[in-house]
Amino acid sequence: MKKIVSLILALCMMLAFAGCGASEKEVLKVALSPDFAPMEFVDTSKSGQDSYVGFDVSLAKYIAEELGMELEILPMSFDACQVAVQTGSVDMSISGFSWTEERAANYNLSDYYYAGENETEQVIITLAANDGAFPEAASFSGKKVAAQNASLQLELCKSQLPEDCEIVEVGDLTTAFLQLQNGDFDALAVAKGQADVFIANNPDSVVICGFEFEVDAAYEANVIMLPKGADELTAKVNELLAKAYEAGYYGEWYAEALELAGAETAADVTYDDEGNIAG
Ligand code: ARG
Repeated sequence: MKKIVSLILALCMMLAFAGCGASEKEVLKVALSPDFAPMEFVDTSKSGQDSYVGFDVSLAKYIAEELGMELEILPMSFDACQVAVQTGSVDMSISGFSWTEERAANYNLSDYYYAGENETEQVIITLAANDGAFPEAASFSGKKVAAQNASLQLELCKSQLPEDCEIVEVGDLTTAFLQLQNGDFDALAVAKGQADVFIANNPDSVVICGFEFEVDAAYEANVIMLPKGADELTAKVNELLAKAYEAGYYGEWYAEALELAGAETAADVTYDDEGNIAG
C-alpha cells in the first residue's frame, strides 16, 4: 500500500513538473515605436526583443511580470501603434503617449505616469547653422517644419505655427533626425527630453530654437493606451502603475534609460532611498 501511495505521489510530482515546463505563459503584446529616447529606443548592440530599451520598456517588463505573462514587444511606427490598439491586435501600447482629448475619446487611457522631464517642454530643433533664426512662432513663416504622424507635436505645430509654415509629417523620428541634418526640412518638433538626448549624442550639429510651444499641463505626463472597453486590464494596469511608483522604480528606470541613451545628464543623477531621482 505504502509503495502504491509513494508511486502515485511520485507520478503526481512528475506530472506537475512536466506541467510547469510545458505551461506556456500567456503573452502580453505591447506595441511601441522605438524612436523616442529616452522612453523607447533601440540599443543597436543587441538584437531582437533585447534591443528595445528605455523607460517604457522597463515599465512593460514590469507589467508583464506582475501579470505573470510573457512580454512580446511589437515595434512599429507611432501611428501604427494606435491602429494596433484600436483594432485589438495588441493588448496595449506603451510609447510615450501624452493624454489628449481625442485619445481619451477613442481609447482606454491609463492613469498618468510621469517619467522625468521628458515632455514637460515641447520644442523645435534646427541645424546649428540656423541658431537664433527662430525666436518666435512667426519666424517659421514660409519654412518647413517636421513632426511625427499622429503625435502631440504635430497637433502643436498645426495649432501654434503660422498658416504658411509647411508642416511635414514624418513616420519615424530616428529617420527624421537624419533628414534634418540632411537639410530636408528647416526644423523638427520634438519633446525637450528627446532633443536633449539627440544633442548630447550629436553636439555642435543641432540646436533648440528660441521658440517653444505653449503646452497644457495635461500633456506633460504619459499614459498607456489600451483598447476602448478593456476596463479590467486598464484597472489592473493602473494598480501596477501605482505600485511601481510607490516602489520608487520610475526614477530608477528613467535614469537607466538616460544612461543607455547616452545623455550626459545621466552622469549627474543620484537616487534617494526609494530609487527616485534625488534633488
Ligand atoms: N508624447 C507625444 C505624443 O503622445 C509623442 C510620443 C511619441 N512617441 C514615440 N514613441 N515616438 O504624441
